[in-house]
Amino acid sequence: MTLDTAPQTGFPIPAGVFAETVTEVQHYTDSLFRFRITRPAAFRFRSGEFVMIGLPNAEKPVFRAYSIASPSWDEEIEFYSIKVAGGPLTEHLQKIQVGDTVLMRRKPTGTLVNDALLPGKRLWMFATGTGIAPFASIIRDPETYEKFDQLILCHTCRTAGELTYGRDLVTALKADPLVGEMAGNLTLYDTLTREDWPRTGRQTDLMASGKIFADLGVPTINPDDDRGMICGSIAMLHDTRAALEGFGLEEGANNRPATFVVEKAFVD
Ligand code: A2P
Repeated sequence: MTLDTAPQTGFPIPAGVFAETVTEVQHYTDSLFRFRITRPAAFRFRSGEFVMIGLPNAEKPVFRAYSIASPSWDEEIEFYSIKVAGGPLTEHLQKIQVGDTVLMRRKPTGTLVNDALLPGKRLWMFATGTGIAPFASIIRDPETYEKFDQLILCHTCRTAGELTYGRDLVTALKADPLVGEMAGNLTLYDTLTREDWPRTGRQTDLMASGKIFADLGVPTINPDDDRGMICGSIAMLHDTRAALEGFGLEEGANNRPATFVVEKAFVD
């Protein structure tokens, strides 16, 4: 159905934008939540891509890039978001409820896609904070399990509540009828940096010390077997990129697949 104006606010829907309905909202902490919206039949994307989203709350709505957290086969679209007090979009987005309208631009894009990586044995996904969102899509896509023998999802946050989304996701995945069986090849390696937890420390430090490889019982990352995807803050991307380059991996892109790819986790 094409809407001309938003039902709740009466503001016009900009041209070339989907107006979709919120189907589910779940809050994890004071600063993190996830929500799902209806998926337009015409909307196609590759698992791991991002899209611009906004709210119909102004003549010219603010749009921000959001990684799609649901896989490309899903009937709905899921997003995982930070809440920023005074953030131009998230200040309002955090208040959405089931039945509200969310605007979504038509063209998804991004580099965290299977196509940008050469085939390999192990896929390492490095995320901090909401940087886990694109990987929530990728680990729910059967294609990923066809391309790699082993998937390792590394997620580092400050405090325990911030790990819940990833933990719930992996638990649900193992019970999923489509990829549940394959998900035996997926390991979640989550760590905290500012609270006690069975595993603590930044991923970069755990790679430098070799602890992460010892914990997982895998060889040190090498360009023959290992492929990487990175999503987090600018500083995290910089340091993780340097670590992977130190192991001999090379950054790729959609038009030039290589051994690792990088995407910024977008926040207000
Ligand atoms: P730390 O607590 O040691 O700063 P942020 O909210 O700042 O993006 O941080 C999210 C998580 O990412 C935190 O656990 C943080 O650890 C970690 N982190 C921040 N900067 C880096 C970095 N340059 N390399 C690796 N991990 C980082």
